[in-house]
Amino acid sequence: MLTNEEKIQIFEEKSKQAELGGGKDRIEKIHASGRLTARERIDILLDANSFVELDKFVVHQVKDFGMEDQKYLGDGVVSGYGKIDGRLVYVFAQDFTVFGGSLSRTNADKIVKVTKLALKNGAPIIGLNDSGGARIQEGVKSLAGYADIFHLNVQASGVIPQISAILGPCAGGAVYSPALTDFIFMVKDSSYMFVTGPDVVKSVTHEEVTKSELGGARTHNIKSGVAHFMSDTDEQAIMAVRELLAFLPSNNLEDAKVIASSDSADRVDENLMNLIPADPNRPYDMKDLIHSIVDNKYFFEVQEHYAQNIVIGFGRLNGKSVGFVANQPASYAGVLDINSSVKAARFVRFCDSFNIPIITLVDVPGFLPGTDQEFGGIIKHGAKLLYAFSEATVPKITLITRKAYGGAYDVMASKHIGADVNLAYPSAEIAVMGADGAVNILYRGLSEEERAKQIEEYKMAFANPYRAAELGYIDEIILPRDTRKKLIQALFMTKNKSEAAPFKKHGNIPL
Ligand code: HXC
Repeated sequence: MLTNEEKIQIFEEKSKQAELGGGKDRIEKIHASGRLTARERIDILLDANSFVELDKFVVHQVKDFGMEDQKYLGDGVVSGYGKIDGRLVYVFAQDFTVFGGSLSRTNADKIVKVTKLALKNGAPIIGLNDSGGARIQEGVKSLAGYADIFHLNVQASGVIPQISAILGPCAGGAVYSPALTDFIFMVKDSSYMFVTGPDVVKSVTHEEVTKSELGGARTHNIKSGVAHFMSDTDEQAIMAVRELLAFLPSNNLEDAKVIASSDSADRVDENLMNLIPADPNRPYDMKDLIHSIVDNKYFFEVQEHYAQNIVIGFGRLNGKSVGFVANQPASYAGVLDINSSVKAARFVRFCDSFNIPIITLVDVPGFLPGTDQEFGGIIKHGAKLLYAFSEATVPKITLITRKAYGGAYDVMASKHIGADVNLAYPSAEIAVMGADGAVNILYRGLSEEERAKQIEEYKMAFANPYRAAELGYIDEIILPRDTRKKLIQALFMTKNKSEAAPFKKHGNIPL
């Protein structure tokens, strides 16, 4: 019979063994590739000493391919719960040292278990992904495991925040669960996402492409828009996950935590009086306006590198978390196109799911014309943004800084699609189109002199906010210096907003 000391010794040895994952050599290989191990990542992610591990001794149940002799305690994923800034979160981290972090049936069961706990207890789930996809030795059992995770991701969507960090080569099934979650973080030169890797691409399409070009952090942050954040190291990416969570509530029934700030709600900024150039064709940086008005000038931008003609991200106003959606005149004149519409639409829906008020800053010349856009389906993609803003029932506050032309005026959270407070600067131009374009259509064959006169007349009549204000479509015309104060007033006024949508199973957003 074993003594109590011996029993404790066995437990401690097993525990140590589990913590070594696939062994020291493989851990060294991970470090040599510039990555951290699953446990090191969890240590950085969570508040000190808060991690509680579940299923530490789970092993796979497969007998084929000699797998019976290759069992690792924990089976390639470390899972459990802990705290970030004192708040409960659930986490799983795939361990690349065990079969390349590939997904087995038991390994999937561990991920399903923490995700279900997160859903039941109303707390975010964070996945630290580093996986070669379906565990090849397990066949359909592994595919079933993936499908269980996907299904649960969809159930949890809009109920708890789901965050994915991609911290290694993620292939096959390993990319679809992250794609169903709310935000994806990637690391330059060590994280990859692709449905099929370069070898398969070459054999099917004869294209030669590197891992990096096909699915590196730059590709997904700049070109595809699959990812939302790009960092230099694992550690930076994980710290950014912590930062993001501070702006979010734990679930869809809560509001984000108010974080008191020393920044006065009445703070004015004289510099803003000169931000908008008098010449409507001259650009300016909309981010200067955002940085100027948020608490402590701290703006947490989302998808910074993708579709830069629209800016999205989180900030706080008088301590309250808000989502910004802003046309960016410094990039393609802030025009709305396919990519910027889709980028903003998904963000609006995220904010609406999680009770985060939306501040919309408008300076938009319209939708981008041309065959590229029409053939690409700008009609249905632009409609996504229209749908998302119309559907959102959180407080919606809109400020027109300069141009609000045509359909883009309607789309960018106008009064007509349910904005609660609509503000405009004296420099706002709310019209069907710019003066030049309007005169070209209304009056053909004019002399240069007559044309200039008509343009001036059109500008005087329409290139201002007063027609809209006369009709009550603009509630208040404000001075740029007072922007912060006015937005905070509007947030205070709408803080108990309650708006019920008609009962339905779900809408049919144009996908
Ligand atoms: C089992 C795997 C594995 C997998 C890697 N390994 N992927 N074991 N199943 N899917 C093992 C390797 O055998 C190796 O074991 C260890 O993990 C490290 O792998 P390496 O290849 O040495 O590492 P690296 O050179 O960094 O390359 C990583 C990789 C590559 C790019 C991920 O391993 C790879 O291409 N793997 C296969 C990817 C794939 O096609 N997965 C299936 C997708 S289909 P040892 O013992 O040497 O350490 C899929 C279907 C789901 O996921 C679809 C749902 C929609």
